[in-house]
Amino acid sequence: MLSLPAVRRSWTAPRPSSAPLPSTPTRSTPDPTSRRTGAAALAAGLAGAASGWLDRVEYRPAGRWTSLLPAADAAALLDPSLHRELAAAQVWLLSWLPGQGTPLHDHGSSAGAFAVVRGALTESVLQTGRQGPARQVPAQLTAGRIRHFGSHYVHQVTNGTDEAAVSVHVYTPALEWMNTYRLADGLLVRTGTERAGVDW
Ligand SMILES: [Fe+2]
Repeated sequence: MLSLPAVRRSWTAPRPSSAPLPSTPTRSTPDPTSRRTGAAALAAGLAGAASGWLDRVEYRPAGRWTSLLPAADAAALLDPSLHRELAAAQVWLLSWLPGQGTPLHDHGSSAGAFAVVRGALTESVLQTGRQGPARQVPAQLTAGRIRHFGSHYVHQVTNGTDEAAVSVHVYTPALEWMNTYRLADGLLVRTGTERAGVDW
């Protein structure tokens, strides 16, 4: 992770929402809503086809395990009606041992979605009101739950249970960078930036 000077900034994060599944393909340059619902459809499809990829998952006590699922492998598991969404997306498989988690982070300019496939994760979403400090609002996501989000969404994900968890994450377009943050006195303070090809 790069060491960048902390930047104080105000932030309004979109609220999480459930995952309606689109019935029609997105355009070649989808709007933000189509991107996030397309990602949700892919996450749901890949969660439903988890038997086709769960044997790839590894568990690493030293740190969270993450692995890119090749597009061809994802396509083979998905209904062809989702292949157009998949062409603009990137799929990651993650495992979370008890206590493992992320810092507070965004996803650069990518929209995305993730589905919990095994175990349970706690997602703490950054929320701000028009007045008052920013705060993290936690929710437990059990297997079968899906979150989808637009760009600028800030959250922290952890496994606070005693059992390992597995999730599948979809980003549209592919994840290029992520900023990490901490909350200080109700303000969001950037603590670093991780970039594709450099940090993962
Ligand atoms: Fe995330």
